[in-house]
Amino acid sequence: MKCNITCIPGDGIGPEIVAEAKKVLEKVAKVYGHELQFKDILMGGASIDVHGIPLTDEAIADCKAADAVLMGSIGGNTSTSPWYQLPPEKRPEAGLLKLRKALNLFANLRPAYLYEELAGACPLKEEISAAGFDMMIMRELTGGLYFGERKTVTEDGVRKAIDTLTYDENEIRRIAIKGFDIARKRRGKVTSVDKANVLDSSRLWRAVVNEVAKDYPDVELEHMLVDNCAMQLVKDPAQFDVILTENMFGDILSDEASMVTGSIGMLSSASLNDSKFGLYEPSHGSAPDIAGQDIANPIATILSASMMLRYSFDLDKEADAIDGAVKKVLQDGYRTIDIMSTGMKQVGCKEMGDLIVERIS
Ligand code: IPM
Ligand code: MG
Repeated sequence: MKCNITCIPGDGIGPEIVAEAKKVLEKVAKVYGHELQFKDILMGGASIDVHGIPLTDEAIADCKAADAVLMGSIGGNTSTSPWYQLPPEKRPEAGLLKLRKALNLFANLRPAYLYEELAGACPLKEEISAAGFDMMIMRELTGGLYFGERKTVTEDGVRKAIDTLTYDENEIRRIAIKGFDIARKRRGKVTSVDKANVLDSSRLWRAVVNEVAKDYPDVELEHMLVDNCAMQLVKDPAQFDVILTENMFGDILSDEASMVTGSIGMLSSASLNDSKFGLYEPSHGSAPDIAGQDIANPIATILSASMMLRYSFDLDKEADAIDGAVKKVLQDGYRTIDIMSTGMKQVGCKEMGDLIVERIS
């Protein structure tokens, strides 16, 4: 198979972790006889430094022309980086939001899974972590507060900021359908998370999710309020299979879910449109404090590359090979610093990439 992949190394640790994911993909291509073409483009701070804006039209066109996009991370230190002196629409994150919208990537999949080998890194009590957990957070990614009208005004000498949370039923329906489809391939349970006791947008969310559920009698549906969900994630994470939720709640809950796995450095993500096209990136940020030191954990990006093979190219066997190699490397006792524990062998970013590459054959 021939695949054209546009890569966005981005900022901070982004270029280091994307380099490792490319190495892994190249090994898979060699072993399984595929042809991969990579094209690197700039986004975020890296693009601001060259073009003065976080995402150019050419960069968007390069993403649209590809079969899939592999991304590292974007952004810098929000207190010290000059990128954050710019107006909001010219900052690094604006590039990512613009790209999500331009590519219509409305479905964000963030798996959170407790590796047996890393159970010790799970911050929860052993009696909770012993049950393990394996959930998929399905976050709506192109609507809600992130894309509603916003403004800051001064009225009678008082500064006032307004953000609007809007969803129409079509936006809710298409993400709900993806959520139920994915639940069907997993353990058959959807927990739809909202704030229907307060918000109109959540009441519509709940109504539309109930309508969609009628087409999936084999999938169990429950509704949960977002504050309760935040609590349940640390109290009993094993209860969740698919968590289906809107943009802002999903942003927050996915960070929380990742932390209970022990390290945000392990979590991949896929952002999909209604075709096979997707953007794949780690769930973590650009970690500017550790950039360039060869200590970042490349596993989340490598697992994102595996999701790309699975969801955009239907290459399940190849994706399994990557997931298996990651598991093996952990079983063999190799750890980057973020997941290090006594008795294990600490390795850097590049070595972790090499060790995973060696285990794909
Ligand atoms: C994420 C990030 C982004 C978001 C930021 C960088 C805009 O936190 O992908 O979760 O809030 O969506
Ligand atoms: Mg986030």
